[in-house]
Amino acid sequence: WKKAGLSVVVVGASGDLAKKKTYPSLLHLFDDNLLPEDTVIYGYARSNMTNEDLRAKLRPYLENSDCSKEVVDTFLSKCFYVKGGWYGDIDAFATLNQELSANEDRLSSKLEHNRLFYFAIPPNVFEETGVAIKQKCMSDNGWTRIIVEKPFGRDLQSCEELLATLSKHFSEDQLFRIDHYLGKEMVQNLLVLRFGNIMFENIWNRDNVQCVMLTFKEPFGTDGRGGYFDNYGIIRDIVQNHLLQVLTLLAMEPPTKADGPESGESIRNAKVNVLHAIPPITLDECFLGQYEGYTDDETIKNKDSNTPTFVVIRCFIHTPRWAGVPFIFKAGKALNERKAEMRIQFKDAPAASFMFDDKCPRNELVIRMQPNEAIYWKTNVKSPGFSGAPVQSELEVNYNTRFFNNSGQNDVNPDAYTRLILEVLRGRSAAFVREDELRRSWAIFTPLLHKIENEKIRPIIYKRGTRGPPQADDFIREKSGYVRNEDYKFFSDSIE
Ligand code: BG6
Repeated sequence: WKKAGLSVVVVGASGDLAKKKTYPSLLHLFDDNLLPEDTVIYGYARSNMTNEDLRAKLRPYLENSDCSKEVVDTFLSKCFYVKGGWYGDIDAFATLNQELSANEDRLSSKLEHNRLFYFAIPPNVFEETGVAIKQKCMSDNGWTRIIVEKPFGRDLQSCEELLATLSKHFSEDQLFRIDHYLGKEMVQNLLVLRFGNIMFENIWNRDNVQCVMLTFKEPFGTDGRGGYFDNYGIIRDIVQNHLLQVLTLLAMEPPTKADGPESGESIRNAKVNVLHAIPPITLDECFLGQYEGYTDDETIKNKDSNTPTFVVIRCFIHTPRWAGVPFIFKAGKALNERKAEMRIQFKDAPAASFMFDDKCPRNELVIRMQPNEAIYWKTNVKSPGFSGAPVQSELEVNYNTRFFNNSGQNDVNPDAYTRLILEVLRGRSAAFVREDELRRSWAIFTPLLHKIENEKIRPIIYKRGTRGPPQADDFIREKSGYVRNEDYKFFSDSIE
């Protein structure tokens, strides 16, 4: 693919996602020399803009990156714009096709020209856009691939409709459904961490694990995105997609292939098996919260909204490896900090109670996705010095202090979108959500979501900037046996 020509089309080029994520990611790939030499990038949208207008609009978002001004200028010279009357405007896509073909002929004498369409648009226009691309804009001698973004529906039925819409025009191997959590370093790391280390694989099961907790915390609320958020809520926004995807990688059986062309199917088969082993979640397995003042946001029209902004959910995975082990999802907005992590708490060490008077806190393996990627294993050691008492410390890999690039800088972690776009260009599908995964993940959450909506279940109100409703800690303890060591603080955090 690097030797072929590449045309990228950002559909919805004037929107937020395109400016904040798609174009900056393409810039990074360009800067790292990861795009083919013959690349052009077309923006398509309904706004009246010239090429220059588009470039001026993008520039602040690109100059915000760590790329030099020269690199940004060269990148922008490869960016063009085509306006359509609406997203499925067949004539506009015919014009786009002419421009793409003219550029492909001008830039390169190569035989193959690949086309990548990035849908930075709402799902209600996926179908008309798909029809127009299929009719007018497919590459005639290379591949055509489509990247789509969530929301992939609001429940199982709307997801089925969306899947049917796109599959009418494109085959599964042309479609790349992004869940940007699959592009995060620590999520991609799970394969190596689990299956490349004998000590982990041997304890990764019901004999040793007390419970697993997947946490997402954000310090801000809806921030003007209330129109979208109020219709979706925290379960759809974070849990059904991001955290559930992380869970599947954390809990799956070893895939037969971790790399190469077959890995896409083998990893996703292993993930979907986990999803099939999780029964649909019931309301009694769920704790809901909403931050105080949530409906004060002007973009939220329903002032009596019961949309949850905080949730704790327990589920089980009915496999021999995990039977009886509680898996807890915890996600919330307007909390006290930004953090996303996987936390595996192990059972009590058998001799700890009688040898050390119950003073050995449990071991916990924490895989921190953000901020400051780290893996630390909470480990009991003897207090240094004259005391023999155990104290909780950690074995850790801290990415901020451990990994550097060739110039000695700690910038080894590209943005999730940058990695994922590269994976699409390489034709690797493992980090994208396959249609059966999507279906099954909606099947797990749909009954719960419908019940919350139909029965207007009220969330518990919590104060902004806190850890969420205090009752949530009791709920977690009762549902999972998780023991929180309030005295412990990850040491590396205190020195950063
Ligand atoms: C998005 C959600 O998918 O993920 C947002 O729609 C959320 O509500 C965001 O803020 C969080 O992403 P990250 O990468 O900052 O954890």
